[in-house]
Amino acid sequence: MIALTSPYLWYTTRATGLVSLILFTVVVSLGTLVANRVGGATVGRFELGELHRTISIIAMVFLGVHVATTVLDSFVSTGVIAVFVPLTSSYRRWAVGLGAVAVDLMIAVWVTSLVKSRVANRSWRLIHWFSWLAYAIAIVHALLAGTDARHGVGLGIVLVSLAIVAGAAVWRFSARPTRAAGRTALSPLGSEVGEPRGDQRHRAREKRSTGNAGRQFDRGPR
Ligand code: HEM
Repeated sequence: MIALTSPYLWYTTRATGLVSLILFTVVVSLGTLVANRVGGATVGRFELGELHRTISIIAMVFLGVHVATTVLDSFVSTGVIAVFVPLTSSYRRWAVGLGAVAVDLMIAVWVTSLVKSRVANRSWRLIHWFSWLAYAIAIVHALLAGTDARHGVGLGIVLVSLAIVAGAAVWRFSARPTRAAGRTALSPLGSEVGEPRGDQRHRAREKRSTGNAGRQFDRGPR
């Protein structure tokens, strides 16, 4: 077998680990904004949802590089299987094993979101809750496996991330509004729930008269 090792692989593992954590913090925070139905006329739930989705893709790319450089670096004996199957790494068995659990949960959340239209809404929602668990497990993984995450700037990043996600969790579970507001992926032109009836009729008339050409000007209620 060819031995491939370089400090640059190790630096990349460390850097992409922390960048993934920062990106997942942003993803979880944006997801909470969407779930708690935050959004106005200018930046609506639609835009927040799109941002949440796009940053999750970028986060998965960084996570991919993080695990790829770990596997490629023969200085630590992990292997491809250890990326997905917990406790199969001979290097830092438990710490890397927790990383694998976080990866598995994140893949479940991600794949079910990619095929959301084909998954029952209740199942999708249930699996999406796993993202909180995945985040928590990734934090423990970072603290156990990391070189930088345990002190200095690295520890600062972990603590700020934890504070943000803990705040988001408290807000998510305590302050969920009951009615949709702003624009969503399903109604990008804005919710008409709760809109005065006169406005609804005016909007319907406007849509009929402008057809699709009017869409670009229809930015929801101001
Ligand atoms: C959602 C999943 C994961 C996230 C968010 C994540 C994030 C992190 C973070 C933030 C660190 C600390 C970096 C440092 O302080 O140097 C780290 C370290 C590490 N991770 Fe992950 N990781 C994940 C999964 C994995 C998996 C599946 C593996 C194994 C293939 C892995 C291998 C490593 C290794 C070897 C280190 C230690 C690097 C060092 O020596 O400092 N990670 N990870």
